[in-house]
Amino acid sequence: MAAESGKNWVLTVTAQTPTNIAVIKYWGKRDEDLILPINDSISVTLDPDHLCTTTSVAVSPAFIHDRMWLNGKEVSLSGGRYQNCLRELRSRASDVEDEQKGIKITKKDWEKMHVHIVSYNNFPTAAGLASSAAGLACLVFSLAKLMNVRDDHSRLSAIARQGSGSACRSLYGGFVKWIMGKEENGSDSIAVQLADEKHWDDLVIIIAVVSSRQKETSSTSGMKDTVETSMLIEHRAKEVVPKRIIQMEEAIKNRDFPAFARLTCADTICVLLIDLIKIKAFTFQDNQLRRKMESFQGTPQVAYTFDAGPNAVLISHNRKAAALLLQRLLFYFPPNPDADLNSYVIGDKTILKDAG
Ligand code: DP6
Repeated sequence: MAAESGKNWVLTVTAQTPTNIAVIKYWGKRDEDLILPINDSISVTLDPDHLCTTTSVAVSPAFIHDRMWLNGKEVSLSGGRYQNCLRELRSRASDVEDEQKGIKITKKDWEKMHVHIVSYNNFPTAAGLASSAAGLACLVFSLAKLMNVRDDHSRLSAIARQGSGSACRSLYGGFVKWIMGKEENGSDSIAVQLADEKHWDDLVIIIAVVSSRQKETSSTSGMKDTVETSMLIEHRAKEVVPKRIIQMEEAIKNRDFPAFARLTCADTICVLLIDLIKIKAFTFQDNQLRRKMESFQGTPQVAYTFDAGPNAVLISHNRKAAALLLQRLLFYFPPNPDADLNSYVIGDKTILKDAG
């Protein structure tokens, strides 16, 4: 093999990928293995300073297995989703050469060489803040850099999708649409950027971290249950979402906040009502903050949505309105680590960062 197998070298890449918040939700799969959705979805990608995954990936002849550490703890890579991503990336890898270090890895070497992955989330994992979206997008993005995969972001999004559906949207900043696609092999189920992070840059996103505990029901099993048991989900996927997608694209293009807010709130409520499992996990349902938020919704200043957990995502149409909202939130619901609400995270839209 061309890689200098006798030598003790390590080649690394580090990347940062932000999470994304869906405003028209992905809820339900038509293929569980390839992760193909039953409807298109649209999201906003957040800035990485507050909610992002940082991943370092390394390759070395000294590594004898693929291994991964998440937030300091080793996790198994044996799951089908990780394996699908690794297989896809290895099959697209190209030659890598670093003359200074005397390293040469050929396309063929990648089939046998092992990688180590160290990933860290700067926000609660599996608490409904789309940690899998940022995590899998970052894993695919950083490994693609390491392995010199030359595919564009859209092709990479189809790989990230196989790690976690919502991850495909985190490969882009700004406003992103995941096209469900029609092909059985999923080749056309990809993410595309609707508008970059500079478009509508006065939108501000505030996340009320009501709970950093892991969700009782994962999105994966919640949506599986919904598809298997709900009579409404087909109507949502075929009738409701296609219309909302068109309207949402229009609202984003025209920076029409009242329409954007109405659609965002309607879609989160729609998923909530359809998904009984979610209602069980939805501890936020009866509390005061939610009632207050409903009164905020009366004025088209704030949109709200939930990503499969109790944490509320509030989207404000400009900084002034966001400051006022935050002032009110802090007054009525001061963060308290012992109570339900423990912090607020504020973010803007952004694009992923190549940190190495
Ligand atoms: C409510 O992408 O976490 O956040 O594809 O099974 O990994 P899997 O599910 P995941 O589900 C996200 C669901 C959601 C809505 C959304 O992000 O569109």
